[in-house]
Formats: sequence, structure tokens, C-alpha cells
Amino acid sequence: MEKYVELLDRQNIPHHVAMIMDGNGRWAKKRGMPRLFGHRQGVETVEKIVRACVKLGVKQLSLYAFSTENWKRPQDEVSGLMRLLVEYFDKKTDQLNEEGVKIRVIGNVGALSKVAQQSIFNAEEKTKNNDVLGLNIAINYGGRDEIVQAVSRIARGVQEGTIAPDEINEEMVGQYLYTKGIPDPDLMIRTGGEKRISNFLIWQLSYAELWFTDVYWPDFDIETLAQAIYAYQNRERRFGGLSG
Ligand code: FPP
Repeated sequence: MEKYVELLDRQNIPHHVAMIMDGNGRWAKKRGMPRLFGHRQGVETVEKIVRACVKLGVKQLSLYAFSTENWKRPQDEVSGLMRLLVEYFDKKTDQLNEEGVKIRVIGNVGALSKVAQQSIFNAEEKTKNNDVLGLNIAINYGGRDEIVQAVSRIARGVQEGTIAPDEINEEMVGQYLYTKGIPDPDLMIRTGGEKRISNFLIWQLSYAELWFTDVYWPDFDIETLAQAIYAYQNRERRFGGLSG
């Protein structure tokens, strides 16, 4: 059964895995169910995958839960998704905390409801000293939006005289992103068959290996994750250099 899990080189597990969790809607439709049923099942997969990452030794997991573009979806889907996210933080934080998971939400959190902001704050506060796995959940996140807010804050620093234009480099820009302090993803997985980045971590994914699967997110499991990691382990990462 567990074919790829056993094939993995445990010395070469990607430190940071990013995931675009696509296909919830189609998974539900195939079963004649409403889209939100698929998202609810998607939360179950999140739970399984967090444990799988801990088991395999992944240290950072970044999940694209709600993009800056997702507001365009029907109102009941938007509010349903937000409810699921708040429920996740409110009900699962204690358990995640016991397992050593450090929760961080990346995105424009200030534009979310006060209720959502409070849940996020509590989850981040409670788990801030953990170090088994960093779980970064992107909510109201857009890669371009992230870069724009970074540029804007850096520009303000220049205007106020605290930043010299010559000082601005890649490292500094990284310090102004939502992912400040988190190393860039090594592997990005997208489920659901589309082969796009969809505005997810566009700065941080510059050198990541990309892996796509037709599997819908609710059907994704530790074996599919191991398959992705196996593919990653058999690629040669050169970071723009030559092979050695
Ligand atoms: C894309 O599937 C999925 C989303 C927009 C939402 C992802 C959210 C979850 C899995 C649940 C909450 C997550 C956490 C971290 C608790 P889609 O709706 O675009 O599917 P489709 O392409 O088949 O329509």
C-alpha cells in the first residue's frame, strides 16, 4: 500500500512544502453535493496532511486557503469558507498546539471580519513557541498584493529617511513579505489538474520544484504527498548554476 512513503530518502525531505488545494468543488459535484461539502472534506484533508508532514519530517507547510480573488465567488460560498476557517482555528488549535505545530496566517488579515481576526490572533499566540511544524495558512492572500504592500512600506521608509535606496535588496524585500523569517518553499504541489501558480507565493516560489496532480484535494493523502516528494528527490536543483 504505502509505496512512495517507503521509497523516500529521509535525509532529503523538502524543508518547506507549499500547496494549492484545488478541486474541492469538482469533488463535491461528482457526488451530487454542494461545493461547501467539498470544502468541508478539504478541511479533513488538511488535518491528515499536517500529520503526514510531521511524520515525514517536513518543517514548513504553506496552504492556499483563500485568495484575494476568491471574494468573487458566490456570497454563500465565501461566508461558508470563512466559517470553516474560523471553526478550524477555534476547534483545532489546542490539538495542533499539543503536536508542536506553529500556526501563522499570511495575507491581508486586517480586511477580514473581527471574529476571524480574533480567531487567527488566538491561534497564532497560543502556538507561537512551537517548532515541530510551521503551518502557514494563506487567507485573503495574493502574491502581487503581498509585493505591493512590501513596496509601499519600503517606500515609506525611504520617504522618512530610515531606508536608503541603495540598501534595498532581495533580502530586505523578503523581510517585508508576509512570510518574513520563513525559508522559501522547496516544493509546490497543486492538486485538481490545473497547471498554474494562481498568484500564490510568486516571490518565494522562484526556485521551487513544481509538482501537479489531477487528484482532487479531498482525495489527496500521505501517499500522494510522498509521490510528490519522491519526484522532488529525483530532480536536480541547480538554482541557476551548473550541475556538479
Ligand atoms: C479550491 O477548490 C479550494 C479553495 C478555494 C478553498 C480551499 C480551502 C480548504 C481546503 C478548506 C479550509 C482550509 C484550511 C486550512 C482549514 P475549488 O473550490 O476551486 O474547486 P474546483 O476547482 O473543483 O471548483
